[in-house]
Order: sequence, then structure tokens, then C-alpha cells
Amino acid sequence: MAGVNPGFRVRPMSEFDVPAVMELERALFPDDAWTEDMMRSELAEPTRHYVVACPGGGPASESGDGASGGPVVAYAGLRAVPPEGDVQTIAVDREWWGRGIATALLRELLGQAYTRGVHEIFLEVRSDNPRAQDLYRRFGFTDIGVRRGYYRDGVDAIVMRCSAPAAAIARTGGGEQGEVLEFTEPDDGAGGDEERL
Ligand SMILES: CC(C)(COP(=O)(O)OP(=O)(O)OC[C@H]1O[C@@H](n2cnc3c(N)ncnc32)[C@H](O)[C@@H]1OP(=O)(O)O)[C@@H](O)C(=O)NCCC(=O)NCCS
Repeated sequence: MAGVNPGFRVRPMSEFDVPAVMELERALFPDDAWTEDMMRSELAEPTRHYVVACPGGGPASESGDGASGGPVVAYAGLRAVPPEGDVQTIAVDREWWGRGIATALLRELLGQAYTRGVHEIFLEVRSDNPRAQDLYRRFGFTDIGVRRGYYRDGVDAIVMRCSAPAAAIARTGGGEQGEVLEFTEPDDGAGGDEERL
């Protein structure tokens, strides 16, 4: 379930979060953004687990209604059909890059995958997105193939697999699921802006 830390919390995405999530989606995936309908149907699927990260500490809303806490600055989604699963998406507002938010979200997805009996997790990542690839490799994802011209602009997808979600969580901080992480405020929009995906 949702992790809590002093500066951020990770909680389940609700339908009320969709407009804010779609703003991030369009900004971070300008060529491949999902439509709002796609996002809403993903959210409605019981085989999915979507989470958001919001600045502001304190306990997660019990209702998970998205009405409390700071603005949504990141989101991620898992498809879990045991024994397999997929990381459907993960994205962080540029101003908040490099502060461990994607790490926290991925840990949450992998923990949920483990809980649901998923033993192998797959994902596709753009071959020109080393930042995301590094993130996945830190969790023990390995390259297992390439889908040529997979993306709309012709860029290849690297297919990656993680065979041990529980070990992956331990590898990225040696902590328990829901480990408390420290986050810092962004420096007036300077954080990570130089990165290009
Ligand atoms: C890829 C992406 C999700 C990474 O998000 P992020 O929040 O910046 O990732 P993290 O901060 O968890 O980890 C990335 C870096 O922060 C570092 N980091 C981890 N925890 C940290 C912390 N607590 N404080 C500071 N830095 C930290 C990591 O070591 C890593 O360092 P590096 O950049 O030198 O490799 C983000 O760049 C993004 O949204 N990109 C656009 C969308 C996208 O491409 N999504 C992936 C689709 S497959």
C-alpha cells in the first residue's frame, strides 16, 4: 500500500488525479501520450495498480480520493496478471527529477507485483532514454530484446525483464517496502532540465 515519508507520499491514483496526471503525460511523452480515455480505462482495470507521488508529508488519505495533499508530481502503473506483470508507465515532473521519486514509485510497483504473485516483470523503454534504462537496471532489469521501430517516431524499444521483484526492492536501498525516503524541494525549476529523453 501507499508509502509515507517526510516530504512526499506515494498513494494509489484515483479518478480525481487523472487531469493532473494527463498534464504530466502530455508534457513528458509529447509523441506518445496516452489519451485520457486510455488512462481512465487502465485505472478501472482490477489487474492494474496505479500510484501517484505528491509533495507534502503526513499520512496517506485513507479514502485515497486524491483530494488531499500536494499536487501530483509523478505517477506510475503496473499490470499484474500472475505470474507475469508489466511496468505500464512511470513519469516524474521534470522539476522533480533526480530526487528518487521514480525509485520510490518503482519500489511500490514491484512490492505490489510481489504481493500479487507476479514473478516476472517486463517493460519496454525507448532506446534513446538512458535515464529510464539506468533506473530499471538499478532494480536488476536486464535487456532481453529489441522491438525495432516500436515507437511512433521510429525509435526502437528495448524490452527488459526483472525476474525477482522482491530482490529488486532490496537491491535499491536494502530496505523494506515503504521505506522512508528523504526528498528535497526543487531548485526553482532547475532540477534535471538539462536531461533529454
Ligand atoms: C526516467 C524518470 C522516470 C526518472 O525519474 P527520477 O525521479 O528522476 O528518477 P530517480 O530520481 O528515482 O532516479 C534517477 C536519479 O536520481 C538519483 N537518486 C535516487 N534517489 C535519490 C535521492 N533520494 N536524492 C537525489 N537523487 C536520487 C539516482 O541515483 C539517479 O541518479 P542518476 O540520474 O545520476 O542516474 C524521469 O526522468 C522521467 O519521468 N522521464 C520522462 C518519462 C520517461 O521517460 N519515463 C520512462 C518511460 S519507460
